[in-house]
Amino acid sequence: MTRSAVLAGIGSFLPSRRVTNEHLTARLDTSDEWIRTRTGIRQRYFAEPGTTTSDLAAEAGARAMKSAGLAEVDAVVLATTTPDRPCPATAPTVAAKLGLVGCPAFDVQAVCTGFVYALATACGLLAAGGADTVLVIGAEMFSTILNPADRTTSVIFGDGAGAMVVRAARAADGGAIGPFDLGSDGTGADLITVRAGGAEQRRGRSAPTAGDEYFSMAGREVFRQAVEHMAASARAVLSRAGWQAGDIDWLACHQANLRILVRLADVLGIPEARVLANIAAVGNTSAASIPLVLDQAHQAGRFQAGDRLLLSAFGGGLTWGSTVLTWPDLTRP
Ligand code: UT7
Repeated sequence: MTRSAVLAGIGSFLPSRRVTNEHLTARLDTSDEWIRTRTGIRQRYFAEPGTTTSDLAAEAGARAMKSAGLAEVDAVVLATTTPDRPCPATAPTVAAKLGLVGCPAFDVQAVCTGFVYALATACGLLAAGGADTVLVIGAEMFSTILNPADRTTSVIFGDGAGAMVVRAARAADGGAIGPFDLGSDGTGADLITVRAGGAEQRRGRSAPTAGDEYFSMAGREVFRQAVEHMAASARAVLSRAGWQAGDIDWLACHQANLRILVRLADVLGIPEARVLANIAAVGNTSAASIPLVLDQAHQAGRFQAGDRLLLSAFGGGLTWGSTVLTWPDLTRP
């Protein structure tokens, strides 16, 4: 029997501290108008001191497991750029917080593409028979790596978490997640980076510079490449699935910039009304953004069972990835 993976439950979690554009204009040389018109963002959430990425991840994971009606899963895969510690991985801590001691748990690091990579990994585990249920989480606390003095990144990113439970199904049953298209181009590693904290800096290949411990991004070049790679990846996955752009009910992309979402929909020939966007309310939450936007749309009752979704992301690495799925008959909380 050929095994496939289907969506069984979904959940998300946002920390309580709401940070509006006005909060940022009080301490940075920026304006609400610049942030809104260049990014579409009006506010984001930052976690309170004392909270860690594993806390956000565990909360979103618990909600996804509740949505799936499960008290246990066979594996936990966590996509994050902001692990609790450089070592060990954060996923075992998340699993322990969920009472899941004993199951395999590991992190996937593909920055803003992380959730799509993690979902592909989970679907691979299910297809290979290594698990019957997998909890896939995207969780980020970018507030811990942003340079508070850097207006080009501080206004964009926010904290949050989203999660899905995927379960094994018979391929013949339909509704399977996939196929996937994944890619990377490491020659662009410097375009989105935290330079300090790894072997390169610790072995002194380059002299440390002030600010190396913070996240940095070459925004304009990343914007160009994001549209190009997401469009090519989305087309590749549609072709493998045998779907046309006109078959897509919802375009659920990484929420990097509202202008990127609009441009991508235009390039793919998908009407703007079919684009899911929550970036105005949560900012760019990196690996958390796709499950977060999906869960919020699900809770708002926007999906019908059978809707066809196209997921696509682009991020540091550089990395990109896309997949398709058919929305199942999920009850809302
Ligand atoms: O999530 C992972 C993938 N990430 C992305 O895909 C992000 C892609 N990039 C972007 O979303 C956009 O490039 C940004 C939002 C980061 C920047 O928008 P932009 O329209 O590309 O602006 P820019 O970098 O070309 O800068 C335009 C101007 C510059 O001033 P000059 O040189 O024209 O005088 C910047 O210094 O805007 C200035 N600027 C700002 N002004 C006010 C940059 N940040 C700000 C700011 N407030 N926060």
